[in-house]
Amino acid sequence: RLDVTETFNSIMFPGHMHTKDSLNYATNFKFQDTDTVIVTYPKSGTTWMQEIITLVLGKGDPTIAQTQPNWARAPWLEQYYCADVLKASTGPRIITTHLPYQLLEPALQHSKAKVIYIARNLKDVSVSYYHFHKMANFLPDPGTFSDFLNDFLKGAVHYGSWFDHVKGWTGHAKDIQNFLYITYEEMCQDLHGSVQKVSRFLQCPLTEDELILAQKHCSFNSMKENTMVNYTLIPQEIMDHSKGKFMRTGKVGDWKNTFTEEQSRLVDDMYSSQMTDSSLLFKWE
Ligand code: PPS
Repeated sequence: RLDVTETFNSIMFPGHMHTKDSLNYATNFKFQDTDTVIVTYPKSGTTWMQEIITLVLGKGDPTIAQTQPNWARAPWLEQYYCADVLKASTGPRIITTHLPYQLLEPALQHSKAKVIYIARNLKDVSVSYYHFHKMANFLPDPGTFSDFLNDFLKGAVHYGSWFDHVKGWTGHAKDIQNFLYITYEEMCQDLHGSVQKVSRFLQCPLTEDELILAQKHCSFNSMKENTMVNYTLIPQEIMDHSKGKFMRTGKVGDWKNTFTEEQSRLVDDMYSSQMTDSSLLFKWE
């Protein structure tokens, strides 16, 4: 069975990629000032940002994006293979993580690593995560969407609560020396501007032609066809491609095709009660 759970600091993680050792490695990690760290709650634009950064650092040249799988060029810190990938890497390290703030806070203290946090509307995240549970055999069977939404809102899913994740990271933005906050919605609305924002943050300026090239190669349609990021390289027994696609819709507001009015109201109410102390604004559509 692949869907074993590893629980660490009361948060569930998929056991086929996470071990106590890998989670201890991640939470005690020695960041370097030249590291770039992509931080997300699952299904919030992780793979997209991995691609944007690869293209920004390559000045729009897609060679690396088209020849190296995303997990080899921007490994997940908490997954067991990370140390080996980083050992083999030359050049600046790009590290990905879904860990909540409280687990990485000690490791990031006084670090000058560049941290990019991407948030996505929780309604779209819940629908995307639900479909991912159906195809990913290392995640538990989600049951109906209604069952899954209940668990999701309680934070009883892998990587914990969306609310805690988003509040934890954005609430401590000022404690992180180099921090960029961006939303999936902004990336959809203005990909050109978002790529430019990332290039400025990474201090890697691109000419207009390079920006256009980078934007082209990280569009949904390009990435959907790119086997280095669309996860079709993952064997069927781990990700069942007959049950869905990783690059699914790539849209803002797709939740409307799944949510009932009652579910939508419930989430709105929870959002306003849980996020009162947060200044985050989402365009719900
Ligand atoms: S994971 O499993 O946590 O790493 O997933 P993650 O990459 O964070 O999120 C997957 C969703 O991001 C969408 N995606 C994109 N949308 C628009 N444009 C581009 N280029 C793009 N790349 C990935 C992907 O389709 C998943 O969202 P849904 O809503 O399921 O389509």
